[in-house]
Amino acid sequence: MFNKINTLGGYFHEYQKSVSEPEKFWAQQADSFYWRQRWTHVTQWDFEKPTINWFCNAKLNITENIFEKNLYTHGEQIAIDWEPNDPNEASRQYTYQELLSVVNQTANALKREGIKKGDTVILYMPMVPELVIAVLACARIGAIHSVVFAGFSAQALADRVRDAEAKIVLTANFGYRAEKTIALKQIVDEALEKSDLVQRVVVYQRTQKEVPLKKDRDILWDEFLADTSTDCPAEILDSEDPLFILYTSGSTGQPKGIVHSTGGYMVYSAYTFANVFQYQDGDVYFCTADVGWITGHSYLVYGPLLNGAHIVMYEGVPSWPDSGRMWDIVGKYQVTHFYTAPTLIRALLTMGNEYLEGKALSSLKVIGTVGEPINEDAWHWVHDHIGQNRCPVVDTWWQTETGGVMIAPIAGVTPTKPSFATLPLPGIQPVIIDNDGQEQRGNSVEGNLCIRYPWPGMARSIWGDHERFKQTYFSQFEHYYFSGDGVRRDEDGYYRILGRVDDVINVSGHRLGTAEIENAINEHPLVNESAVVGYPHPIKGQGIYAFVVCPQTSTGGEAGIKQSIEQGVNKLIGPIARPDLIQLVPNLPKTRSGKIMRRILRQIAAGDATSLGDISTLLDEQIVDIIINEALVDV
Ligand code: WTA
Repeated sequence: MFNKINTLGGYFHEYQKSVSEPEKFWAQQADSFYWRQRWTHVTQWDFEKPTINWFCNAKLNITENIFEKNLYTHGEQIAIDWEPNDPNEASRQYTYQELLSVVNQTANALKREGIKKGDTVILYMPMVPELVIAVLACARIGAIHSVVFAGFSAQALADRVRDAEAKIVLTANFGYRAEKTIALKQIVDEALEKSDLVQRVVVYQRTQKEVPLKKDRDILWDEFLADTSTDCPAEILDSEDPLFILYTSGSTGQPKGIVHSTGGYMVYSAYTFANVFQYQDGDVYFCTADVGWITGHSYLVYGPLLNGAHIVMYEGVPSWPDSGRMWDIVGKYQVTHFYTAPTLIRALLTMGNEYLEGKALSSLKVIGTVGEPINEDAWHWVHDHIGQNRCPVVDTWWQTETGGVMIAPIAGVTPTKPSFATLPLPGIQPVIIDNDGQEQRGNSVEGNLCIRYPWPGMARSIWGDHERFKQTYFSQFEHYYFSGDGVRRDEDGYYRILGRVDDVINVSGHRLGTAEIENAINEHPLVNESAVVGYPHPIKGQGIYAFVVCPQTSTGGEAGIKQSIEQGVNKLIGPIARPDLIQLVPNLPKTRSGKIMRRILRQIAAGDATSLGDISTLLDEQIVDIIINEALVDV
């Protein structure tokens, strides 16, 4: 296996090597994988264009590295333990050998539908093993999977299907979330109403309840798999062939399809998983993320399975049937590694420690967090009560675009500090740059978080819009990848992520663009315009505060209008984007050139209007007082 770090000295040594001789360093890590053909160059890149290539001209299939490479040693080992939403329903289990058979069947079924290398496949599914199977089946045949989180609305799904130009959608009749069932197939039907590109919809039957099937288009999962062989030769891909597209939010209204490569992503997701979590044979790894997000891709599916890990996958919500569910799962499967989001920790923390009574947590060895800054209270609670002062808490900073963890402690190796992501992983060269483009050297500095040198797991493009890729990540600060986050490097050289510096917000670990939410609100017939900002929220990290200009209210008054705005957002994006606070305002604070001064709204929403700074460029200064007086938070 690749170099595994197990001492702090070892970390510094590896880090040094990775910076002084990056190509040699990454070639060494890549050597432990199964390549059908070796690379001619380790990397060729140019951030100006930008072009990024890793393991150039090498040939491989990522699923051969999950299965064939490990079958002799891991074939009979459990790959997936699946825990259903309802604790009384039977769980399901797959060994690596079993998983390979059904991945192959599904791959053959996709081939029978005419899906081939380079085609896109949309997966809109609940957290069932079939979702992981479908992901791997696509990878087996070189089809590009695009998983759409099953909490997105029909409209959001339709946008992604259209953008990805998918001909096939895999879904389920329903999904379970706590006591609710979500009518996924119905949402797909609605999304596809205006699409004639999609010729096939495959429906996994999660519940007994039948759903209408559209003739010649829809097929049930069992029928789809019928008479398929459990053998399917892996399609041999180029290292740079796309493995998947995953949509994420940015500063503008339109979500962007982040494109990840095959070879580089494989090396990076596997290397970071092994090192950050220090997973060892016999451990049991539980990641609470949905496969619909990047964390699910890199650290529920690819990273762990490439390492032959035993994973636990959970279908439901963390607090159902009660707030002890996570700890029941830890006990039931003897989980050693628990990777989750700070929002989940905060939510469970507020429910009180009685939910921990009688729970078996002694199997735990490592706790990881991702998605947003973890505040000190949450860090201490999870460290003291869940990790029982025994388990390192690894606060991992990374992004959909980075493919894998970038800045994080190596579990048990790097000394941790609450709310710090600590030090960069080998191969990652963070640079802090101020707003004038000046690099901030040394310690005790802060600014925009950029990265100097490419790493194998980084995104290669935005699907169908390479120019936007360049503009978004490589234009603000010349020669660097710009993350969109602010960061502080403290006196010890430790990194603390300060949050986004752009118009992206992090709500319960879900990444949303404020422009996207504004667009949805502005669709309301009575709304003139709106401005959305994030504000500190005790559980969600950030909540959504919408300032809405709506001169006339219809029947139902203010309450009615707010409700219909919420419904509109639900419909256009999904419940995750529903505003927590909607304040109707006569106008927005705008500069004379018509630009909304969001800075002011952010400060008001944060409850801090004591020093609003220079507002003399505002067209109408009085509007600020009016908004403050009627604010929905204490200002
Ligand atoms: C934020 C999730 C602080 C950050 C893997 C980043 C974090 C965005 C952390 C990416 C962390 C992620 N501490 N902030 N440990 N991890 N973030 O694309 O703002 O869903 O830019 O990827 O989440 O969110 P995304």
